[in-house]
Amino acid sequence: MVNLTIDSKKIEAEAGRTILEVARDNGIAIPTLCYNASLGPLGSCRLCVVEVTQGKKTRVEASCGYPIAEGMVVETKSERVMNVRRLVLRLLLARCPESEQLREMAAGMGVSAEPRFTPDKDHSKCILCRMCVETCEKVVGVCAIGISGKGAKKATSAPFMKEPSTCIGCGACAYVCPTGHIEMESTGDTRTIWGRTFRMKSCKVCGRYFAPEDQLAYISSKTGVSEDDLATCISCR
Ligand code: FES
Repeated sequence: MVNLTIDSKKIEAEAGRTILEVARDNGIAIPTLCYNASLGPLGSCRLCVVEVTQGKKTRVEASCGYPIAEGMVVETKSERVMNVRRLVLRLLLARCPESEQLREMAAGMGVSAEPRFTPDKDHSKCILCRMCVETCEKVVGVCAIGISGKGAKKATSAPFMKEPSTCIGCGACAYVCPTGHIEMESTGDTRTIWGRTFRMKSCKVCGRYFAPEDQLAYISSKTGVSEDDLATCISCR
């Protein structure tokens, strides 16, 4: 076990855990954009920064990937921390001025929604956090999307900027996207995402369209459960 202090609160926690995990377990909120427990730290957004003092050194670090240590003192809302977070948000807003999620977060932190830096004009809401890419690869196991291009032209897309041929339409990428960049529309018996339209399966009990047929076929191939056994929605199981 490790003894540390977060925002003046003495805490004992298991060694090997991160500052973010321990803070949240103890009711101390730290904002994040690119963190999801099932993916682990990606370290992309830097919104989770905190001030960490170890010995005589104090540094600003991303809390999502920083392991706790004996005697560590952490400040999650110091002036220095808040200034860095506001700067990070201003930069993200300049990249994605149309992201409603970023604008709301900015308002909560007292940051003007009007970008202070010259805003990008490509209408993208992608902050390149990689959450969608990691989810598709590590959670779903499909690898339909990735990061393409270099420098200012970097973007999240399917290989060669085409429609992703291996996508199963599950929508997990849209679900984890923190900025609303990935658009998914489910209407009636179709779902459209990444420029592809998928046919939805209707539940054999209630008739509600509940999942793309490609997703059910994929689950069936991975688990050995027949597609017929998967043809019932969660509510009717
Ligand atoms: Fe830690 Fe994004 S949540 S860098």
